[in-house]
Amino acid sequence: MSGALEADLPEPGNNVGNDTSPPRSSLVGAVKSSHPHEDLVLRAEKIKKSFGALVVLRGVDIRLRRGEVLGLVGDNGSGKSTLMKILCGFQRQDDGEVFVNEKHVDFHSVQDARNEGIEAVYQDLALVPQLTVYQNLFLNRELTRFGKIGWLKNTSMRRLSEQYLAAIGVKVASVDALVGSLSGGQRQAIALARATRQDAEILLLDEPLAAMGAKESALVINLVKDLSQNHGVSMIIIDHNYTHLFELCDRLNILQEGYITYDQEISDTSIGDLNELMISEYRRRVTIGQSELKA
Ligand SMILES: Nc1ncnc2c1ncn2[C@@H]1O[C@H](COP(=O)(O)OP(=O)(O)OP(=O)(O)O)[C@@H](O)[C@H]1O
Ligand SMILES: [Mg+2]
Repeated sequence: MSGALEADLPEPGNNVGNDTSPPRSSLVGAVKSSHPHEDLVLRAEKIKKSFGALVVLRGVDIRLRRGEVLGLVGDNGSGKSTLMKILCGFQRQDDGEVFVNEKHVDFHSVQDARNEGIEAVYQDLALVPQLTVYQNLFLNRELTRFGKIGWLKNTSMRRLSEQYLAAIGVKVASVDALVGSLSGGQRQAIALARATRQDAEILLLDEPLAAMGAKESALVINLVKDLSQNHGVSMIIIDHNYTHLFELCDRLNILQEGYITYDQEISDTSIGDLNELMISEYRRRVTIGQSELKA
């Protein structure tokens, strides 16, 4: 599906008027409300977002526990990246609230979200290929002598980069290597390292493994696991590959027709279940499409 136009949505009792309840799809009943004693680092409620006539998010409720890896699944154009962009301050929601560590936040910029410990990492996001590994790690946060306009402390930045990459298990030939000369997997690892070096408590990863081979994926998968298990970083990961998600995530959400329609611990579901859900949803839409054609 390439985006849910208001007029395209199935009507039978699903989204009447301003009703913000999820659609009556095959997935209904699979969403759990948050437990009052859950240790939530991030919570968003009733997030809505439209682009002109295109209604993308209709009332998204999403929650992320401390140290948890949450997988976000959904068709192309279902609004996953839009949701991430809202949570990292890149775009503003039309309606709805975001809470970080149960504090209400109102992001007007990516920097606002950063100040609350949220970093988003896209495939090639914000790395400068013409700069070295250590220069990228310290980009916009360079260490200097004599204040901001002083000389760069290159030796310190090199040493700290080496120490930090070693600590999180990222191997590169040299921190003096140009980022442009690294493989996609290594680049992604540097982007993740940079985000976490800046004290990110919450990482939002939009298709971090897209177009990567098995070896490169393994590098990033190991890093993600290490960051969550040994460094307490909480993450939301978008990925179309269920095998990756089942390897990485503690819990899965499905975004569908502008709502989270499925919320399950990974231990309570399987790749087979997920495939079946997506296929039955596809069939449901085809049936609706056919009955609309007849009408
Ligand atoms: N800035 C924008 N202006 C207009 N429409 C937009 C904008 N950003 C996203 N959209 C539309 O919103 C819908 C959701 O897009 P989004 O990128 O969030 O989907 P997605 O779930 O991430 O898809 P994919 O799996 O293909 O990455 C799409 O129909 C897209 O064309
Ligand atoms: Mg996307």
